[in-house]
Amino acid sequence: MKHLAILGSTGSVGQSTLSIVERYPERYSVSALAAGRNLSLALEQTLRWHPEIVSMATEELAQEFAARLRQAGLSGIEVVWGTAGSVACATRPDVDFVVSAIVGVAGLEATHAAILAGKPVGLANKECMVAAGEILTKAAQEHHVPILPIDSEHNAIHQCMRAGAHREVRQIWLTASGGPFRRLPLEEFESITPEQALRHPTWVMGRRITIDSATMLNKGLEIIEACRLFALPPSQVRVTVHPQSTVHSLVEYVDGAILAQISVTDMRLPILYALAYPERPESSLTFDLAALSHLDFEQPDFARFPCLRLAYEAAAKGGAHCIALNAADEIAVEAFLDRRITFPAIAATIEKVLEQTPVSHPQSIAEVLVADEEARERARELVSQANNLALGSSVLRF
Ligand SMILES: NC(=O)c1ccc[n+]([C@@H]2O[C@H](COP(=O)([O-])OP(=O)(O)OC[C@H]3O[C@@H](n4cnc5c(N)ncnc54)[C@H](OP(=O)(O)O)[C@@H]3O)[C@@H](O)[C@H]2O)c1
Repeated sequence: MKHLAILGSTGSVGQSTLSIVERYPERYSVSALAAGRNLSLALEQTLRWHPEIVSMATEELAQEFAARLRQAGLSGIEVVWGTAGSVACATRPDVDFVVSAIVGVAGLEATHAAILAGKPVGLANKECMVAAGEILTKAAQEHHVPILPIDSEHNAIHQCMRAGAHREVRQIWLTASGGPFRRLPLEEFESITPEQALRHPTWVMGRRITIDSATMLNKGLEIIEACRLFALPPSQVRVTVHPQSTVHSLVEYVDGAILAQISVTDMRLPILYALAYPERPESSLTFDLAALSHLDFEQPDFARFPCLRLAYEAAAKGGAHCIALNAADEIAVEAFLDRRITFPAIAATIEKVLEQTPVSHPQSIAEVLVADEEARERARELVSQANNLALGSSVLRF
């Protein structure tokens, strides 16, 4: 029996993880849940799973949560909050496996703490690998902790890499759906609304990652995540647009063989793989290969999706540039969702923040968080200037 800490339990990945626990009660149980602000769902999950500890984003929410637990007649559950709370969830002695699925750098310290505490990590939170991958992978090596990717592309690469040695890999191919605007005329990009951008063609996910998929910054973050998870330079990490999202990614070996992983577009499969690795439990997540008529692959359009170019540039510089790429995007996506800037202004904000970022390589999580905050501040300033000048199109055009 594996006792899980699920960080980000109320999110899309967190809920899919709990559905795996539901399906395999003989294999998994829930020791710790870390949620953000969704009190009612956190309560529902606690009543269902009886964890030992629950964390909420703030002290106020934690107090409200504890009061609701008392009303429901549930006692003996520790209620904690904030970063210290999610760290407490991730490091409890009874926890055997940590699912890292908080969105953004809010999940970074708990993920790092889990590794230092020797807990195997199922990693969905790509932002923490982008911001602090060098530190996290070093800590994982030193503490002999496996980091098992849950992000479907990296999970696919992990699976395909089991077929050969690392030195035999020529390059890896990350597949990208291309998002909802793959064919939209470029002149219409200025008028894209949050509603249009939130309509992903193949995956149902949280809001930030859905917008990141529409700008293809998500693929950019995944390029950096892949470099770090699989110890490869950016030149060996390629992107191919595959609108069906049937092939989740591919590994090309030096002899010319290319291995692909195909399965349903359902996050429960990579989550199950990470939880059960190296086993493969039987599941009902089958893919009807007989019904498959064709697979398309296209070159990504770097002019249409400048975030891809920005990500390769940041990946080459590493350190503060990767941190800034992620931080600036988080601020710009929020501003876009609030209708304060236009869709193209997301990439323009990131580009300007990157231009203003000095080359540096933070050596600790504290330094990463400082660089992250500096980049956020620069992004906020740009967004507010853009906002003052009529919705971002005038100063943040690219
Ligand atoms: N969804 C997918 O299919 C998918 C695929 C690959 C990778 N990922 C990655 O997995 C991560 C989660 O994605 P998602 O789609 O599940 O996102 P989501 O649905 O937006 O969920 C985010 C989770 O993080 C929690 N959270 C946010 N801020 C927090 C804070 N300050 N402290 C504690 N918890 C906080 C949220 O809590 P509340 O809701 O309670 O506020 C929620 O549980 C992201 O890094 C994403 O890139 C997701």
